[in-house]
Parts: sequence; structure tokens; C-alpha cells
Amino acid sequence: MSVYVRPMHREDIAQVVEIDRESFPTEWPPPNFRRELENWLAHYIVACDSERTVDSPEVEVSPGKGPGGLVSSVKRLFGRHPLTTNQRQSKEAHHILGFAGFWIMADEAHITTIAAREEHRRQGIGELLLISIIEMATELKAGSITLEVRVSNTSAQKLYSKYGFTQVGLRRGYYTDNKEDGILMSTEDISSAQFQTRIKQLKEARA
Ligand SMILES: CC(C)(COP(=O)(O)OP(=O)(O)OC[C@H]1O[C@@H](n2cnc3c(N)ncnc32)[C@H](O)[C@@H]1OP(=O)(O)O)[C@@H](O)C(=O)NCCC(=O)NCCS
Repeated sequence: MSVYVRPMHREDIAQVVEIDRESFPTEWPPPNFRRELENWLAHYIVACDSERTVDSPEVEVSPGKGPGGLVSSVKRLFGRHPLTTNQRQSKEAHHILGFAGFWIMADEAHITTIAAREEHRRQGIGELLLISIIEMATELKAGSITLEVRVSNTSAQKLYSKYGFTQVGLRRGYYTDNKEDGILMSTEDISSAQFQTRIKQLKEARA
């Protein structure tokens, strides 16, 4: 399996919703991804299997947004499969293995969602998505990255801890479906040499 990361587009939504449904079954209905993709504060990415294709609706694809364009940012980071201009996507698309999103608010990147397809968990997809977010947030000059995670979601917490997130707060009853508490996690200053060295080492270890 050869996996690459690129910005999410409208034609990806059906596959993304599938992953969202199996990943967050109690948080249905899903976020309005169509609206999120039009939101200039939000950045969404997908991890795709370049060796597997699926049928996809034909949709006009617009260029990246934000400073330098998210597309160019992802192109620089991953160097493959860029979509650089308005173009028609073919009816075949790559199988999406996971997706993630974050918002840039003031100088903070806040991860809104991250999920890997159930049958592809523990294969490094979550890690690849998180590395991508960290690199994009660094390019966008965010100071830190934050997120909320369910107290019961220890696998996700382990992923975040591995990448330098620590608990900075507890939001009581944050999740409305079961009133579960949310742990607020944050990185240190992501531009610091210490943080960047850690990410470089983790990235190399992963490669
Ligand atoms: C959290 C999630 C995205 C991780 O994705 P993944 O592709 O399975 O994770 P990876 O294979 O990249 O694992 C990376 C690290 O995460 C941690 N991790 C992931 N799954 C784990 C598990 N089941 N048990 C323990 N640690 C786990 C480990 O630290 C792992 O590093 P290691 O392999 O060196 O031990 C995935 O479990 C998922 O989609 N869960 C449902 C959605 C969700 O809960 N999202 C988080 C919302 S806050």
C-alpha cells in the first residue's frame, strides 16, 4: 500500500462521511464537510491509497487557500499528487484511508477531527495525518496545536502524547452524546527547536 496525503475536496466527502460514521458513531450526524471546505479558517486533508481506486462524482476542484495555498503547502510537504489549478477530477479517485481537519484561530491550530478507516487502523495512517497537520500548522505560523479528546479514548491520547501533546485542561461533560469529559491537550510552541527536532525524529522513525 502506498499512502499519500492531500487536501480534501468536495468529491471526497462521500468517502470521508463513511469513515466519520464508523469512527464517531455516537456523534451522528457528521460535520457539514461541504461548509467546512468553504471555511477559510478550516483545513482538511485526506490520506489516500494510491494503489486503489474507487468511483467518484466529477467535481470542479479549486486551488488551495490561505498563505501560499494549502495545496502548495501539501505539495511541498509530500511532493506527490498535487492539484495546483482549477481542474476536473476524473471519475476515478483513490481510496481514502483517513482524514483530519483543523482550524486556525488567532495563533493556534485546533484539531477538529482525525480518523483512520477502521480496517486500516494501526498502520500509521493517524500518525501520517497528525504529522501533516503539524507541518501545515508550522507553515501557517501557528504557535501551538490544541484538541479535545474523550477521557475514554486512550488510543487517540497515546497518539497525541507520542507527538508531544500534554493535558492542559479538562472540559467537564464536553461531549453531549454521553456527557463524557473532554481532555484538552496542547503542544508546546511548535516553532521551538525542541518540538521540531522531536517531530523530525518521529518522522524519520516512521519512514
Ligand atoms: C486515533 C486514530 C486516528 C489513530 O489512528 P491509527 O492510524 O490507528 O494510528 P497509528 O497506526 O498511526 O498509531 C500511531 C500511534 O497512536 C497510538 N495508538 C493508535 N492506536 C492505538 C491503540 N489501539 N492502542 C494503543 N495505542 C494506539 C500509538 O501510540 C501509536 O504509535 P505506536 O505504533 O508507536 O504504538 C484511530 O484509532 C481512529 O480513527 N479512531 C477513531 C476516531 C478517533 O477516536 N479519533 C480521535 C478523536 S480525538
